[in-house]
Parts: sequence; structure tokens; C-alpha cells
Amino acid sequence: MVVTGVDSIDVLKPRRVGNSLEDDFIVGMSSKQKFLPPKYFYDELGSQLFDQICDVPEYYPTRAEDGLLKEISHSLITDLKPDAIFELGSGTARKTRRIFDACESANCFPDYHPIDVCPEILVTSKEELSSRYSWLSVYPKVGDYMKGFAGFKNSTNQNLFLFLGGTIGNLTESESLLLLKEVRGLMKPNDSLLLGADLVKSPDLLHAAYNDSDGVTAKFNLNLLAVLNRRLKGDFQFQNFVHYAIYNPVKFQIEMYLVCVENQEVYLKKINKRIHFQIGDSILTEVSRKFTKARLESLFAKAGLGVVTHFESGVPEFALVHAKLHKK
Ligand code: SAH
Ligand code: AVI
Repeated sequence: MVVTGVDSIDVLKPRRVGNSLEDDFIVGMSSKQKFLPPKYFYDELGSQLFDQICDVPEYYPTRAEDGLLKEISHSLITDLKPDAIFELGSGTARKTRRIFDACESANCFPDYHPIDVCPEILVTSKEELSSRYSWLSVYPKVGDYMKGFAGFKNSTNQNLFLFLGGTIGNLTESESLLLLKEVRGLMKPNDSLLLGADLVKSPDLLHAAYNDSDGVTAKFNLNLLAVLNRRLKGDFQFQNFVHYAIYNPVKFQIEMYLVCVENQEVYLKKINKRIHFQIGDSILTEVSRKFTKARLESLFAKAGLGVVTHFESGVPEFALVHAKLHKK
């Protein structure tokens, strides 16, 4: 499907100059353990594949977080009555609907500001949300939230910042702290942050969630090679790589790799680079960190945020943390 209207999406003004894909690729491929930042998964197809992952039986986080949101949104919204909602990595915003439903029933009509690296998903989610919620004004911005937010206008009385899905787990410890500090810098005393985080649990459940039997996660992982082929004019052969995801219980994280199963010399015409892959070489394409209540509290405290309420689902465990600025 070709999504139209992508060029009309406003661009998020960055506070820092970040790396380009070219820089990230060269750094990542020169490292002893080759790696790439997970934000590159999300081209149009990558976003659609993530949406399909949310529906596979093994991938519990979406259902667990959605159930929690359904439970808590009404009292949260009645209490906060936000004038504006800002969402980082909004994707399809499928679970954010729980919040909008609660807004409707509380007669509270905030503006919505979704931020995502994928312009196509911003266009389609805006269309879908606008047709479902006629009162909702949607102001999407495309960009990388890790580059910070320049020229951010936080002039309304009460803002609610959302960072859902457990996407915080795809950032390293220092990246998550940087991002939370950045968000804290935007917040006024009455503002709130609601953050979703996946929790440590049985390794079997974790393993299954990233190795679904329909192979959707494998497609999502391998699609990264299509992104590289298109954007760097590369010639990665997909059949030479396999999806491999394991839970590392020492680091409390899923590690997702593309493992090379045939020797291959890849040529990236755009950057005029050749990379030799031997059987067994791997690219770390994503980590997905799993948290405990204590580790979340410590992360928030380091970022200058105080946890108001830590909500937790039943098994399989997922948390939603409501935080405000730390009281001095
Ligand atoms: N919040 C949604 C989507 C989670 S998937 C949910 O809970 O279902 C992660 C989303 O974050 C994707 O839509 C992806 O495009 C976006 N994303 C990932 N890295 C990003 C970055 N650095 N800056 C902005 N958006 C990012
Ligand atoms: C977006 N993010 C929270 C997902 C996760 O679970 O780490 C991405 C994902 N990767 C494989 N499956 C889902």
C-alpha cells in the first residue's frame, strides 16, 4: 500500500545532531559484535510487521498493557484532565485509544501530538484516529526522539506524556536515562508521564514472545536488511541470514540477532563499502530489556522523576508507571 500525505507531516526539531544511517551502519559494522539501532526497523513494512507481532498469540506485551490501560485510564484521565497528550514512538496508537475513550467519557478533549520515526504510520494513525474520535485534533511529528526536542511548546496547563509498549526496553540504560531526562526537561509541575515497561518473567514466556510460530518476528527482523538494501543501495541476500532471539538472564534482556548462515560479501553502493560476512557472524539488531519495580523506580529517580503509581498486570507481568517531577 502506498501511503500518501507523508510529505505534509511536520518534522520534529532536534536539539542534538545525531548520526545518520550511514554513520550508524559504519560504526555498527566495525564493532566486534556488529549491531544496528532498532529504530531502523520501522519503515512502512516494518511498522506493519510490528503491528502484526502485536496480534500473534505468543507476544503478550500488547495485550497485557492494553488490559492495564483499560483498567486505569478512566481514573487517570478524570484525575489529570490533560489539555494535551504527547506520545513518543506512537506507532498505530492502538492502545492509546483506551486513553481517548476515557477522555470521551470524562468530557475531556485534549489535543494529541504523536511522535514517531515512521511517517507512514503517523499518516495512517492520524486518519484512523480522526475518523474514530471526531473531537480529536492530531498534530503528528516525524523524527527521532533520541535527538531531543527543540522549540517545544508546552504552554497548556496540563500535559500527559506517553511512552508505551515497553519501547524504553529497546534503549540502553544510558539512552533511557537521557530520554527520561529530556522528557523531564519538558514537564511542568502538573504534568505527568505514563510509561509502559515489560517486566522480568519466565524465560520460556519471553523466548516464545520473540520466536512466534508464525515467523512474524523473524520477518520483522529480516526486514532490516531490506531497509539497508533500499537506503544504502545494498545487496544483502535475505536467505543468507536467519532470525535468532534469546533471553539473556544475566542482563535481563531479549537479544535479537541476524545470524549469517552463508559466507557473503555485501556491497553497499551508497557508501561504497564492502562487508564480508562469514558463517556464524551476527548483527545484534535489538535488545528488549525487562525490568523490575525496583529498577524502574531507580531509573525514574536518576532522571529526576518521582513515581506516583506503579500499576502492574497479572501474569504475564507488564507495568505502567505514572510519574511526575520529583518534589524537591
Ligand atoms: N507505542 C506503540 C508502538 C511501539 S513500536 C505500541 O505500544 O504499540 C515502537 C515505535 O517507536 C515504532 O512505531 C517506531 O517507529 C517508534 N520508534 C522507534 N525508535 C524511535 C525513535 N528513536 N524516535 C522516534 N520513534 C521511534
Ligand atoms: C517496540 N518494542 C517494545 C518491541 C519489543 O518487544 O521490544 C519490538 C519487538 N521486537 C521484536 N518483537 C517486538
